[in-house]
Amino acid sequence: MLFSRNIINIYNNVVKTNHYNLEVAVEITYKKAETLKNRPEGSALGFGTFFTDHMFNMDYNPQDGWHNPRIEPYGPIAMDPSSMVLHYGQAIFEGLKAYRTDSGEIQLFRPKDNLQRLNFSADKLCIPAFDETFVLDALLQLLRIDKDWVPSAPGTSLYIRPTIIATDPYIGLRSSNTFRFFIILSPVGAYYPEGFNPVKIWVTKEYVRAVRGGVGQAKTAGNYAASLYATSLAYKDGYTQVLWLDGVEQKYIEEVGTMNIFFCIGDELITPELNRSILAGVTRDSVIKLAKSWGVKVVERQLSIDEVFEAHEKGLLKEVFGSGTAAIISPVGKIKFDGKEITVGDGNVGPFSAKLFNDLMDIQYGKSDDPFHWIMPVK
Ligand code: COI
Repeated sequence: MLFSRNIINIYNNVVKTNHYNLEVAVEITYKKAETLKNRPEGSALGFGTFFTDHMFNMDYNPQDGWHNPRIEPYGPIAMDPSSMVLHYGQAIFEGLKAYRTDSGEIQLFRPKDNLQRLNFSADKLCIPAFDETFVLDALLQLLRIDKDWVPSAPGTSLYIRPTIIATDPYIGLRSSNTFRFFIILSPVGAYYPEGFNPVKIWVTKEYVRAVRGGVGQAKTAGNYAASLYATSLAYKDGYTQVLWLDGVEQKYIEEVGTMNIFFCIGDELITPELNRSILAGVTRDSVIKLAKSWGVKVVERQLSIDEVFEAHEKGLLKEVFGSGTAAIISPVGKIKFDGKEITVGDGNVGPFSAKLFNDLMDIQYGKSDDPFHWIMPVK
């Protein structure tokens, strides 16, 4: 009891400190990299291996709140080996992207939603809240500095990874009192080696990613660590990703390792409801809004893996696809569960997935109107 009251007090202090910080309009200091790196060709990008010249950093302690915001050369973070994040995984992150339009401008897709979700994850992991307006401004400044890194080859973008980690040098178990907030930028191409070709997914009852009441709905490092073992078994069996079932009955579909999941069954588009153990994906929400705007019946509900296989048997399972910032829209060609593999449709990209992919990309790259006001230009 005492412990949780302390956490609440700390949390309240943080909110006050952040408001104070905002009122005095904290300046973001900038130190330019002495040497700039060679930028890779668009065709060499892949996902997540190249990083730009600069990064954003900001620190937290209970006395000063979030302080010392700075843009400085990209580089290693010096850390005590006892830093709490290394032992207990008190770490949260986001993924969003900046796109280059045909006319050379740069634009962000729903950045406020990602920062809002980062604060949601912060709450779940006892990490102090930050001021979203301030961090968005810092991100815009960082993007202006590293703007030449936003690639222009078709299908490429600049992946943005805001992250917060616990930095107290302490190995007892409690919430850290100090944190580091950083943002790094990575020019990327397709997430999956398959590109937009259908991926094969593997369903297991043996392992779970998260349970209701846990931290499945937060974007925290441990959820991804928890997915690795089963994913390694999926790889060995020739599959790209694990499709997770719920942690209680091992029956209901939750999400895929790196994305939310959708099923076209009959004339409905069905996706698992936000049940507090799956991530409320920004791309998931965009898919739902786009599909509804086309008059598609979108249903968010519990969906069992048995129901998916039954729908397949009856010829009603038309398409399956994942959605995520990194993966965008990723069609699923095959699903294996309980020793049985089914092929979705004819195993190729279905027309609905293709339309979603194209329409979403057209909005993200500024090739079409932005009816939902998702785009934020970087000027
Ligand atoms: C994203 O889609 O942005 C993610 O964070 C998933 C990650 C595994 C790349």
